[in-house]
Amino acid sequence: MKTLKIAIQKSGRLNEKSVELLKNCGLNFENYKSSLISPVSNFPLEILFLRDDDIPEYVQDGIADLGIVGENVIQETEVKVSYLQRLGFGKCSLKIAVPNNTGIESIGQLNGRSIATTYPVILGKFLKEQNIVADIRTISGSVEISPGLGLSDAICDLVSTGGTLKSNGLKPFADVMSSEAVLIGRAGSENEDLIQELIQRIQSVLRAKE
Ligand code: PRP
Ligand code: ZN
Ligand code: MG
Repeated sequence: MKTLKIAIQKSGRLNEKSVELLKNCGLNFENYKSSLISPVSNFPLEILFLRDDDIPEYVQDGIADLGIVGENVIQETEVKVSYLQRLGFGKCSLKIAVPNNTGIESIGQLNGRSIATTYPVILGKFLKEQNIVADIRTISGSVEISPGLGLSDAICDLVSTGGTLKSNGLKPFADVMSSEAVLIGRAGSENEDLIQELIQRIQSVLRAKE
């Protein structure tokens, strides 16, 4: 029998809830400290602690059998993976936000403006649907400070509590997509039996929470 691998976020919004879910499934393992891979002592499974952005590709390429990641990351990386289960945590939305004192009041006014984001693919599709031509500036983090630095007119980033927007003098302006954590896998994996057993454990943990 082969050992399954599941990829979860190393640190960030989904890490704690992902670990909690797996522990509630009765799996015994050490939480991430410095080792990026943790064996489960009572199930043929290893946990890989990765950057969330890398998880869809690891699953698509067969490095990991399963992954827990936000739908937003899956859409952005445009990989072929199967959605196995919605997990009900990590709910957030991808929004365009503008400075509080901006002159931008309608979506059409984004034409010709610049928007900083770590989600150029999703934002690009959204703007195209809205017939907006804007300059997408792709940066890898701290997106919320870019209007204040004069780097962009608007941003597009994840909003969960809204605290980060607020503390950077920004207000939400348009909803691009909503997202939550999902369990992903790949079609046609060997190890289907083990995968099914794990999915069933996850589903009963979710049911117990209802
Ligand atoms: C998101 C987003 C914001 C923050 C918003 O980052 O990039 O910075 O959360 O949360 P708030 O509305 O509750 O203030 P995330 O944790 O997804 O990390 P990552 O971008 O590094 O993957
Ligand atoms: Zn990320
Ligand atoms: Mg972020």
